[in-house]
Amino acid sequence: MSPFEGTLVVTIDGPAASGKSSTARQVATRLGVRHVDSGSLYRAVTAARLQLGDPPELWTERSVLDAAARVTLVPGETTFEPRLDGTTCESAIRGEDVTGVVSLVAKMAHVRAWVNATVRATSAAHEIVVDGRDMGTAVFPEARLKVWLVAAPEERARRRVLQRTGRAPTAVELATETADLEARDRRDREQTQPAPDAVWIETTGISQDEQVGRVVALAEQRR
Ligand code: CDP
Repeated sequence: MSPFEGTLVVTIDGPAASGKSSTARQVATRLGVRHVDSGSLYRAVTAARLQLGDPPELWTERSVLDAAARVTLVPGETTFEPRLDGTTCESAIRGEDVTGVVSLVAKMAHVRAWVNATVRATSAAHEIVVDGRDMGTAVFPEARLKVWLVAAPEERARRRVLQRTGRAPTAVELATETADLEARDRRDREQTQPAPDAVWIETTGISQDEQVGRVVALAEQRR
């Protein structure tokens, strides 16, 4: 029997700022299950390692794994939340310092194995909607539903600035954010792959509600 046969696992993967986390959070709430954001773990490990203060090009994989030992994933009411030294770290992990180097940390094979095992453990006792880059391929190949979200780079950049500032981007902001996202897409390319049986959803031009509604409908069919 597949390990996930009795438990609902929905994976939502896609490139940077494709709306994975916001969609996954809302889908999880509507299904009454918990949301797990695998990217938040890579970010928390990066934030922990940054605290040592030495430049990222000198980081060894061993030292990053030691930093990972300070990160836990704690079940809340609707999510699994990463904690750093037992404390909430949501604002620290979204900073530009973390975003700039997280892909370097995400390249480390032992760090990937640690994140994957940590994420997988959440599904042992809980139904989850999990988002990331490789949840439907490396971590939950047996998931009941796998979604691959795509959107044009400019659209993703527009959403990311809106999310950060609460307003529409200027032309310069849009160009800078698009270039940053495309650079991160290139760095993350290796681990950012759709599962062969993933359902593709192109989100450019559809509303967040519609996007969430489509995933919820698919999940309900397969529950
Ligand atoms: O900012 P965005 O929502 O695109 O990314 P995120 O989900 O917060 O993930 C931050 C970074 O973690 C990515 O740029 C990847 O380098 C890495 N990541 C990964 O390698 N595999 C995952 N399953 C999730 C994130």
